[in-house]
Amino acid sequence: LTATLALHADDVVAPVRRRLFGSFVEHLGRCVYTGIHEPGHPTADEDGFRGDVLALTREMGVSVVRYPGGNFVSGYRWEDGVGPDRPVRRDLAWRSIETNEVGLDEFVRWARKAGAEVMYAVNLGTRGVLEALDVHEYANHEGGTHLSELRRANGSDAPHGIRLWCLGNEMDGPWQTGHKTAHEYGRLAAETARALRQAEPGLELVVCGSSSHAMPTFGAWEDTVLELCYDQVDHISLHAYYEPLDGDVDSFLASAVDMDRFIEQVVATADAVGARLKSDKRITLSFDEWNVWYLSRYQADPPTEWRVAPRLIEDRYDVTDAVVVGNLLMSLLRHGDRVAVACQAQLVNVIAPIRSEPGGPAWRQTTFHPFALTSRLARGDVLRGHVAAPTHATGRHGEVPLVDAVATRDPGSGEVVVFAVNRHRGEPVELRVPLAGLGGVEPVEAWSLHDADPTATNTEREPDRVVPRPLEVEVVDGALRVVLPPVSWQAIRLG
Ligand code: AHR
Repeated sequence: LTATLALHADDVVAPVRRRLFGSFVEHLGRCVYTGIHEPGHPTADEDGFRGDVLALTREMGVSVVRYPGGNFVSGYRWEDGVGPDRPVRRDLAWRSIETNEVGLDEFVRWARKAGAEVMYAVNLGTRGVLEALDVHEYANHEGGTHLSELRRANGSDAPHGIRLWCLGNEMDGPWQTGHKTAHEYGRLAAETARALRQAEPGLELVVCGSSSHAMPTFGAWEDTVLELCYDQVDHISLHAYYEPLDGDVDSFLASAVDMDRFIEQVVATADAVGARLKSDKRITLSFDEWNVWYLSRYQADPPTEWRVAPRLIEDRYDVTDAVVVGNLLMSLLRHGDRVAVACQAQLVNVIAPIRSEPGGPAWRQTTFHPFALTSRLARGDVLRGHVAAPTHATGRHGEVPLVDAVATRDPGSGEVVVFAVNRHRGEPVELRVPLAGLGGVEPVEAWSLHDADPTATNTEREPDRVVPRPLEVEVVDGALRVVLPPVSWQAIRLG
């Protein structure tokens, strides 16, 4: 089997947007408590943040982190998490007890240490315009007002300067506390956005789109919501989680095909609303939750007891999951003309690339590696590549190419990086990339993530069972030639 990737240095789709390498920290399970925060842990710093988790976050190259939820935010009172008195509350979304030990000021401090921008979600499920204005005043107002002075009294003299704000979370989902119809939500989002802009015109605002491509209201929801707030918002959100359903691994390996279609359909819908409104403004996309999630396992066994930081949704990822994650990142990169922000959900312990044990080690799941390598290597521009590959039939996505590939090029150094997956479970595929249009580049480094056992995982006892390994590549007759093993993800740097 052979596939070809045709590239030309001048054929650019979009810049490599650093904000595509975002992540997500929700007050859910052990993402915050014993995830990023664990006073008393051997690596904890003066603020109680785990140094091992911080180091792994930096190694992953995370650029922006969404906080504090997720479903959690729809029942959250932000003021519970600031100052000396922290009430203990119920969190209905995850049937957990929230101690509020970590809140806005702590999270901003953590994000600074991680070198990441904060993306803050306000509660539009059970709250409204005034509470959104309040948290904005607390976070971003310089001083001289009640809430900005409260922030200063709580130890954060300078404003937090949060630029990116989500107007609620998954408001289309019937599971959401304070779930709304598209019309109810669109009006609330418009008025919240208008008020936030009165406070600070330069904010970037994300309105909730659909919580999955499969929602019965998908398309109609975006249409109504955007019609009501088109001029007030910058981005519309998309959420997608993938898992092998009914044992259909071939469809699972082609999850990026669904992500491509989802993105393109949201772009089409947003542009249709823009056309109807006779607007030249282009709405961009915030794919602020995406990942592999074995959701059906969670749904079969949801929490029944009220506990603090319970072990929830601690999926253990294998090689196949990592290949899918790498491929989803490729989909995000090639849509960088319209996808402005993306957050892998989540960062630690909860459907996460990083795992940590209380009092114990932190380690990299298989899915850590394609994220970290893509974030490190993708530079400059995304090229419009054309892949010609054999196809096979899948149950969920129809006929799909066995190979998917995308390339970036740094116009400064001329370096090109090719990212490629082989979705075939039994056969290697030879990938050829003619180098003529790329300005005389040669292979510099090449990595492959695969294993004879595609179900292999990393564990506390064997944390480096699955790591990217150097890959053999050659140049023959002016073309890069590389054999992609079955179920594999690759990154090849040429300079
Ligand atoms: O990331 C886990 C959950 O998935 C989030 O809380 C919610 O927004 C989505 O349904």
